[in-house]
Amino acid sequence: MMSYKANFRVWRGDVDSGELRDYTVEVNEGEVVLDIIHRLQATQAPDLAVRWNCKAGKCGSCSAEINGRPRLLCMTRMSTFSAEETITVTPMRTFPVVRDLVTDVSFNYTKARQVPSFTPPEGLKAGEYRMEQVDVERSQEFRKCIECFLCQNTCHVIRDFEDNKPAFSGPRYLMRIAELDMHPLDVADRQKAAQEEHGLGYCNITKCCTDVCPEHIKITDNALIPMKERVADRKYDPLVWLGDKILRR
Ligand code: SF4
Ligand code: F3S
Ligand code: FES
Repeated sequence: MMSYKANFRVWRGDVDSGELRDYTVEVNEGEVVLDIIHRLQATQAPDLAVRWNCKAGKCGSCSAEINGRPRLLCMTRMSTFSAEETITVTPMRTFPVVRDLVTDVSFNYTKARQVPSFTPPEGLKAGEYRMEQVDVERSQEFRKCIECFLCQNTCHVIRDFEDNKPAFSGPRYLMRIAELDMHPLDVADRQKAAQEEHGLGYCNITKCCTDVCPEHIKITDNALIPMKERVADRKYDPLVWLGDKILRR
């Protein structure tokens, strides 16, 4: 199939109101959904707002929902849809709309700032940082994150319950806390913070975050579940329990 006309339905509007608008637009072999959005801008809707940057799945800017599924516009091939299908493109649902496909993702930056950075033991000098290769490799998986916020957008804890936003930092930042907790040189109390300040207990391991991650990070299995286990170990460890009780007096 060289070239055909596809039916697109794109959400147009702003924070106050909006609607789905229908377009018929040319598609060529090898194109991705972002190409079609750009063609729409060039030919029929010059004021259509869309955020993008790299067109290579690496900047995390072009997150949206295609037929209701959170995806990167630049990594979704048109060949995954049939030529007859109407393709619906809407902004991420969990964050407030700025305009058209662009959302205000500042919730994520607020949550990022609430996670204290790597905290090595006091007095450790440059050259004294030593860790096992296995610990390096564990955190490397989490470092692949491109901050597209698709996992944050998908997690039902905040997608369906706006009121949970203050108490829940979402999978991306719980993963960051888990990464730091697994770091052999980090001395901050990540476990207590995860549970009490970042809402780890709200996660009921549905794994929807993992399903949508374009970097295929095993967010639930490799970060959230191990973090839950660490928190539980500590809670039910009689020595830690006694220590906490004495310190709280
Ligand atoms: Fe995106 Fe994956 Fe990072 Fe979540 S963990 S922000 S889905 S890259
Ligand atoms: Fe949400 Fe992922 Fe947990 S989708 S409920 S953070 S496993
Ligand atoms: Fe950079 Fe899509 S434009 S990830």
